[in-house]
Amino acid sequence: MKNYIITGPTSGIGYATALELAKHGMVILVGRNRDKLNGVQKTIETAGHKAISVVCDISDIKSVKHAAEEIVRLRLPIAGLLNNAGIMPSKASKNAQGWDMTFVTNHLGAFALTELLEPHLPDGANVVFIASAIEDPERKPAKVMGMKGGRYISAEASARGEWKEDGSKMAGVDAYATSKQCILASALFFARENPRLCYNAVEPGITRGTRLGGINPVVGFLFGNLMAMIPPFSRYSSTPKKSAKVIAKVLTDTSGKTGIYYDEKGQPMQGSVLVLDPQFQGQVVTETRAFLSKYV
Ligand SMILES: NC(=O)c1ccc[n+]([C@@H]2O[C@H](COP(=O)([O-])OP(=O)(O)OC[C@H]3O[C@@H](n4cnc5c(N)ncnc54)[C@H](OP(=O)(O)O)[C@@H]3O)[C@@H](O)[C@H]2O)c1
Repeated sequence: MKNYIITGPTSGIGYATALELAKHGMVILVGRNRDKLNGVQKTIETAGHKAISVVCDISDIKSVKHAAEEIVRLRLPIAGLLNNAGIMPSKASKNAQGWDMTFVTNHLGAFALTELLEPHLPDGANVVFIASAIEDPERKPAKVMGMKGGRYISAEASARGEWKEDGSKMAGVDAYATSKQCILASALFFARENPRLCYNAVEPGITRGTRLGGINPVVGFLFGNLMAMIPPFSRYSSTPKKSAKVIAKVLTDTSGKTGIYYDEKGQPMQGSVLVLDPQFQGQVVTETRAFLSKYV
């Protein structure tokens, strides 16, 4: 039986993807809330599939380390790792180390988990990162909303919650866009650096019905449904179930494709000019490794 790891399986895209992945093998559910994990595990088991749960707060590097050790101790051959957990809060906050919560959750935590598990993954295993096209300042729907793309200065600066000036006026967007810029740049770098594994990324589309951004259900419903109808948003619109199909297809693929950034329909897409620049990718990875080396 194949085994797939998924972070953030307790809500939205991750929940739908965990249910989809369970059709392909055993799912290792990695989340911060034991009760919620138990609920997802029970749903999967009731459907006749297999899952196990590992508690992990991705915004806490110590917790990520413990979770990676727990997963390695399971001694299961892992066919795929899906880095899905993510947040987009409008109010900045810090983790216990004083690092920007969005940056650590969306980039540092996923990066650390991937690097800790990498030596234990069998040849050809898939590592997939859930990215966001918000990292691209030229992306039409993001531009229309006044977003300015990733605002990376350095890993240290991002951890302090500092972004390149002249960013978006919308609270929380620069942190989110920069964290996604960094994880996408890292995914593309890993794909070139390590041909032993397959590293890909997916932009799941403007996915309605998730808890991203913490919007209240009424606003979320209106927002999501309007987004699904009005250009330029409608073209990129998706649902957790649709995203799950695309993500599961990439994660269970055995053709050896690597270094591909997929859109919400599962078609290859382009990232921003900066994120595609190998020098920038190298800078992000080198600085992130140096930053994390004190903690991992
Ligand atoms: N929705 C969209 O339109 C959209 C577009 C582009 C990209 N994305 C990306 O898609 C991914 C999933 O987002 P979503 O829309 O499905 O949001 P969501 O419904 O809020 O789900 C986020 C998941 O991440 C988990 N998570 C958050 N912080 C965590 C932490 N510190 N440790 C462990 N798990 C944590 C949550 O766990 P809890 O249940 O415990 O909170 C939840 O399972 C994210 O990476 C997001 O950036 C979403």
